[in-house]
Amino acid sequence: MSVILIGFMGAGKSTVAKALSADYIDLDRVIERQIQRSIASYFEEFGEAQFRVLEGEVLAEQLKKNLPIATGGGIVERIENRKLLKQHMQVVYLKADFSVLFDRILNDATHVRPLAKNGEAVLKARYLAREKYYETLANLVINVNQKTPEEIARHIREWQ
Ligand code: S3P
Repeated sequence: MSVILIGFMGAGKSTVAKALSADYIDLDRVIERQIQRSIASYFEEFGEAQFRVLEGEVLAEQLKKNLPIATGGGIVERIENRKLLKQHMQVVYLKADFSVLFDRILNDATHVRPLAKNGEAVLKARYLAREKYYETLANLVINVNQKTPEEIARHIREWQ
């Protein structure tokens, strides 16, 4: 069964998926390959709601591969996507403080995050709104504030 990593932007979902297995799925990258453009440009043209639908479709399809999956931070925003996660028994929430995440988001030049351009307060509101979904959908919650990706991966392997 795939381990599905959930959590806010900057939590380290992709890095941890990679630490779990050289063969892993980064949902955002799969989506970008499928749509042949960046997520940021897709957001601009079609909007967030449409992106959430696409995200859920790609998650459902990638689950068949039985590999660790790093989701995008907003996967929990759409009810259908939450239902899909709820049926799954290996959902792991990488939980970190907003201040830690915000620092990482600001310092990550490799990722263009369309939702991060509206400033700290708007982003924090998203974080607060999503927290309860991350918590209730997860079968395992790991506080990742001060852990390396290897430590987190080990924790997940021991739990599985
Ligand atoms: C999003 C998070 C991003 C990406 C998109 C939207 C979000 O993924 O899917 O920019 O709504 O939190 P990461 O969590 O990998 O940054």
